[in-house]
Parts: sequence; structure tokens; C-alpha cells
Amino acid sequence: MDIFFAGTITTSDTLKWIAMYVADNPKVQAKIHKELDGLGNDVGKLRHCRNKMNYCEAVQREVLRMRPAAPAGLRHQTIRDTKLGGYDIPKGTLVYANIWAIHHDPKNWESPEVFKPERFLNKDGSLKEVDHKIWLPFASGKRKCVGEAIAKANLMTIMALFFRRFKVSFPPGVQPDFEPVMYEIACSPKPQKLIVQKRK
Ligand code: HEM
Repeated sequence: MDIFFAGTITTSDTLKWIAMYVADNPKVQAKIHKELDGLGNDVGKLRHCRNKMNYCEAVQREVLRMRPAAPAGLRHQTIRDTKLGGYDIPKGTLVYANIWAIHHDPKNWESPEVFKPERFLNKDGSLKEVDHKIWLPFASGKRKCVGEAIAKANLMTIMALFFRRFKVSFPPGVQPDFEPVMYEIACSPKPQKLIVQKRK
């Protein structure tokens, strides 16, 4: 149950956010298509291609930064009286880590509300080292997400297979709604229409 509950809506919500951010940023979409087209037929052998998909990886990181699927992680409980940031937290208190706030803090990120995958890339297109103090969509510590590796692999595979064949856009005149619905632990997009077109 843990795996099916924790591993499904998180991944599907992230895929929906990816489709929305890409549809809203045609230049990003063009770069994704260019990267995937450059892989030729290799895209079917994704295991060998992950290290050639830096731009797709940067898009994934940026989407997980802006819309982390579990923006407050899971509840934890202090096992002893604790002091944190000047606050006394008694033993037995339920605590959440505010991942959303860390990901949107202008002290950590330049223009945090701007969707910019390039912030994860060096000038030569290679991926920057991730700073896990400020980028932690899978939380941190001993009880961080056990599904991180499988989630990342799934996201990359589905992204690559989808964007190789399709392009996405919002219907003309439609204003996309990026305000998330925070339900229990989730951060889901509201239902809305996207146009999916086959690429030539
Ligand atoms: C984009 C996808 C995903 C994101 C953003 C995500 C994020 C998270 C976060 C933030 C936590 C809370 C950790 C904490 O509060 O300490 C968590 C826990 C967990 N995740 Fe994920 N997750 C994703 C996908 C998956 C997948 C695919 C699986 C399983 C196949 C999975 C299994 C779990 C489990 C079992 C826990 C509880 C771990 C524990 O309590 O020790 N997750 N995840």
C-alpha cells in the first residue's frame, strides 16, 4: 500500500506539471525536442541515454522545485525535547518540513517564481551539482522518499517517450492555472485542457 499510495499520485502529478510548464514555455519545449531528436533511435535504450538528457533532467528538477509533489513531506514526530531555530519543540510534537518554502525562498533561488530549467545547468550544458539543502523534493534524512530513484527513472522515461512524439500547448485564449490544489499531502494541478499534437 505504501508503494502504491506514495508512488502513484506523486509521479502522475509531476508529469501533469511537466506537461503544463512545457506547454507554457515554447522555448523550453523546443530545447527538449532538440535534445531528444539528437538521441536518434537511441531513445528506446534509455538506460544508455540518461547522461545525454541533461536538459530534460533540468526541466524535471525545475518542475519538482516549483511544484514538489509532497510539499510538506510526511508527518514526523520529535522523539525528545528539541530546540530548532530558537523554538522549543516538546517531545511528541508532530512536525512537517516546509519543502515548498525552501523551494520558493528568494534567499535560495533567484526569481523563484520564474520557471527556468537553465538554473540547474552550467554554461556548457552539463548539470550542476544539486544543493540538497535547498532542493529536496524527496525530503531529507533517514526517512526520505525510498522511491526517489524509481520516480526519477519513470519521469525521465515517460518524458522522453512522450515528447519525442508529441508537442503540447494550451488552447488559444486559455489562461493556464498554476495554482496548486493542496490536498492532504499532495500538490496537484487543477483539471484543465491541454492540446497534444503529434509531431511530424
Ligand atoms: C515525483 C515523485 C515522488 C516525490 C516528489 C516523492 C516525495 C516524497 C516525500 C517528500 C516523502 C516524505 C519523506 C519525509 O517526510 O521524510 C516521500 C516518502 C515516501 N515515498 Fe516518495 N515521492 C515520489 C515517488 C515515490 C515512488 C515512485 C515511490 C515508490 C515506488 C515512493 C515511495 C515513498 C515511500 C514508501 C515513502 C515513505 C518513506 C518512509 O516513511 O520511510 N515515492 N516521498
